Amino acid sequence: MKVCVIGTGRMGRRHIDAAKGLGFDVVGIFDPFKEAMELAVTGNSIPKENCYSDAVEMLNKLKPEGVVIASTAPSHAEHVIAAAKAGVKYIMCEKPMAVSMEECDQMISACKESVSVLGINHQMRFMDQYTEVKALCNTPDFGGILSVNVTSANFGLAMNGCHYFEMFRFITDEEISSVQFWADEQKVPNPRGPQYVDHSGQLRALTKSGKRLYIELGGDQGHGVQVVYGCKFGQIYVDELAGYMRAISRKSEFRDLPTTRYGMPADETIKKITPADVIGPTQSLWKAMLEKHNYPDGAAGRHALAALVAANVSGENQGSLTNIDLQLPHQRVFLWA
Ligand SMILES: NC(=O)c1ccc[n+]([C@@H]2O[C@H](COP(=O)([O-])OP(=O)(O)OC[C@H]3O[C@@H](n4cnc5c(N)ncnc54)[C@H](O)[C@@H]3O)[C@@H](O)[C@H]2O)c1
Repeated sequence: MKVCVIGTGRMGRRHIDAAKGLGFDVVGIFDPFKEAMELAVTGNSIPKENCYSDAVEMLNKLKPEGVVIASTAPSHAEHVIAAAKAGVKYIMCEKPMAVSMEECDQMISACKESVSVLGINHQMRFMDQYTEVKALCNTPDFGGILSVNVTSANFGLAMNGCHYFEMFRFITDEEISSVQFWADEQKVPNPRGPQYVDHSGQLRALTKSGKRLYIELGGDQGHGVQVVYGCKFGQIYVDELAGYMRAISRKSEFRDLPTTRYGMPADETIKKITPADVIGPTQSLWKAMLEKHNYPDGAAGRHALAALVAANVSGENQGSLTNIDLQLPHQRVFLWA
C-alpha cells in the first residue's frame, strides 16, 4: 500500500517505521519543519525526493491509499479533512483527535462523505496490558470490572489521560458519562513547545452504570504508571512500564461471603506482561483498519476528546461534576498537542 506521513516529529518517524514494517511503501512525507523531514530522510531512509513542502499537493499528486497524520493536534482536523477530500481510503490520525469537539465532527463527516476509514491512534485494545486484563476481568473468577485506578506520574491530562479514557471505555464496554477533575495550579510543560497547555491533577470519571475510573496524575510525582483493576471477586494489578501483572481473586467457595470478610483464601497469579510499546500496537491498528473491524474509529476518538473537554471544564470549576452531554462547549478550542 502507498502511504504518506504528515508530521515527521518523534511519533511521525515511529509511524514511518511501523508502516515500513508492515511492508507499506512510504511514498511521501510532509512537515513544515524542514529539520524534521531531514531526520526522517537520514533516520528512516526516506529518499529526499519523497519530501514535500505542501501536504495537499503531495496527496493530490501521489494519490496514496493511506495517510498518517502525526502532526501536533491543532492541525489534525485540517489534514484529515484534506486527505478525505483527496480520496484517501485509510486515514490514521494521532491522538488527541483534535482541539475541539466541533473539529471531531467535521473530521467524521468528511470521512463519511468520502467513505474513508478513519482510525484514531489510541492503541489500547491492541496491547496485552489491556486485552489480557479485560479477558480476566470477565471470567467467573473475577466476576466483572467495577473500577480502574491509575496512579501515574506527571503525564498530562491531554497527552496521556485521553488514552486512559479510551482504555476505560474498552475495558468496561461502557461510555464515560461524567467527569470530575481537580487541576493543579501549575500547568504541565509540553515537550512539543511552550504554546501548548496541559494539566496535571486528579480525575474521577463515571459510566451510567456506576463504573469508575480514577487517575492520579499529580504534577509533583515522578516516574511510573501502575493500574489496579477492581473486580467483584478480586483485583488485577499491572505495572505498565515494567510489564508486570499480579492477579488475585477469592477462591470460589468463599465468594458468597460479605466483602468485609477480608483475607479469605485466594488464588494468585504473577506474570510478566508485554511492557507499553507504540510500534507493534500501531501496526495492529493498521491491520484492523484494513479489515475494517474492531479499531478505534472517529467516534471512539471523539468520545475520548469529549471526556477531555469535560475534564478541562470541571478543572476550571474546582472539580464540579461535568456531564458528557450537549452542554459541553462544542466550538471551544483547547491548546493540546
Ligand atoms: N499514540 C501514541 O501513543 C502517541 C505517542 C506520542 C505522541 N502522540 C501524538 O502524536 C502527535 C505528534 O507527537 P510527537 O511526539 O511526534 O511531537 P513532535 O513535536 O516530535 O512532532 C510533531 C511534528 O508535527 C509537525 N507539525 C507542526 N505543525 C504541523 C502542521 N500544520 N502540519 C504538519 N506537521 C506539523 C512539527 O513540525 C513536528 O515535526 C501528537 O498529537 C501526540 O499527542 C501519540
